[in-house]
Amino acid sequence: MNRKSFVYNSMLGLGGSLIVGDSLGSNVPNENESLKALESVSADSKKFDNEAYWKKVSKFFNRPKDFIQFEHGYFSHQPISTLKFHQLAEIHINTQTSEFMRTVQETEIESARKHLSEFLGVDSETLVLTRNTTESLNIVIMGFPWKSGDEVIIGNQDYGSMVEAFEQASVRFGIVIKVANVPLLPKNDEEIIDAYSQLVTSKTRMLHLTHTINLTGHVIPVNSIVERCKILNDHLAVAVDAAHSTAHTIEKIGSLNADFIAGSLHKWLCTPLGLGYLVMKKSYIDQIWPLFGDVGMSKTNIRRFEHQGTRPIHSLQSIRPAIDFNNAIGFDAKLKRLQYLKESFLSKVDGQNGIQCISPWRDIDRGGAVFCIQKHGMKPVDFAKKIMKDFRIFTVGIDHPVVQGVRITPHLSNTIDDVNRFIEAMLKR
Ligand SMILES: Cc1ncc(COP(=O)(O)O)c(C=O)c1O
Repeated sequence: MNRKSFVYNSMLGLGGSLIVGDSLGSNVPNENESLKALESVSADSKKFDNEAYWKKVSKFFNRPKDFIQFEHGYFSHQPISTLKFHQLAEIHINTQTSEFMRTVQETEIESARKHLSEFLGVDSETLVLTRNTTESLNIVIMGFPWKSGDEVIIGNQDYGSMVEAFEQASVRFGIVIKVANVPLLPKNDEEIIDAYSQLVTSKTRMLHLTHTINLTGHVIPVNSIVERCKILNDHLAVAVDAAHSTAHTIEKIGSLNADFIAGSLHKWLCTPLGLGYLVMKKSYIDQIWPLFGDVGMSKTNIRRFEHQGTRPIHSLQSIRPAIDFNNAIGFDAKLKRLQYLKESFLSKVDGQNGIQCISPWRDIDRGGAVFCIQKHGMKPVDFAKKIMKDFRIFTVGIDHPVVQGVRITPHLSNTIDDVNRFIEAMLKR
């Protein structure tokens, strides 16, 4: 066994569970065996409404004791198999300290790059390991070879930090921001494609698309938008914010037709906090200025964007068990279960008791777990507070220029009983 696989296997081994013991919660007696139990069942057993299977999955998560969590859109809790691995890896690095960094650090980073690139379906030589989507897109937005007067098209529901990054780039580099009005409830893809393509001119240098909009969970048709826009200007670069798509609404990130794709792993891949990635097309690697100065690395080496200083390598190591957990369930089964939890709620609540859903949930391809509701006569923040106060259910109130509502995000840790309790609460007069 080489040193690399020793590190991984010993973290997963029994010795590990003895060290950490019960401090991680009492749900899972032996996470290795349980992962196998999640994986080695028929596709039928993983059907979205087979509660016996999904109950087993939910037990992998430590749930809060005093409320029901329905705001998993911020970040995900790790399943116990990953959490345990991460804690053991932290103990290991905390023991070995600089010896670890000066001997196996690089091997471990490259191992993480390899496993993540396979999971995403991208070439590992195009993959930057970052802390999150915000960092990844700032590498692109701050490092792009802008010329004054260049135009960028963003969406009216793009994430605030990206809008701010473009606004800063506008002041610094003189770029012009144009905003596409993406409809909340589109009749068809054409409406969304038009919203972007009508803004394309010969000066457009970048198209920035949020694949899964965080406010409503709406998945936009990235490849069709890109196809149309490139007919109008084939020099524009495409940057995709896939913070909420990764391991959630698209199986292979590599199937997105984009020059830059950024994502966070602490959302739907359920890794430890502070892990993200950037995929950059090879032709751009020597065109973009690294955010953290680097002159030592070859200009065509993707690692030039990772000059971050001392990094939490034990977190990077934990990408692998996080992938193992996702793979044990399988992408299709996971997505269908998440959509089922959403639909079970909305089919009973949308249109009842003054509540309207403003996400396109009836169109199965336009979303995963995330959705947003409004309550007639109530401000979203007040509604979210009331739901918590009266029913001990945690959500988030959103007050955005385009979207005002309470965002609800079920996760694999939620059971159908949680959903039914939430329905009952919403139908109470
Ligand atoms: C669409 C979208 N983009 C970017 C981000 C930023 O993610 P992070 O905070 O992990 O950088 C989020 C976070 O919720 C998001 O929803």
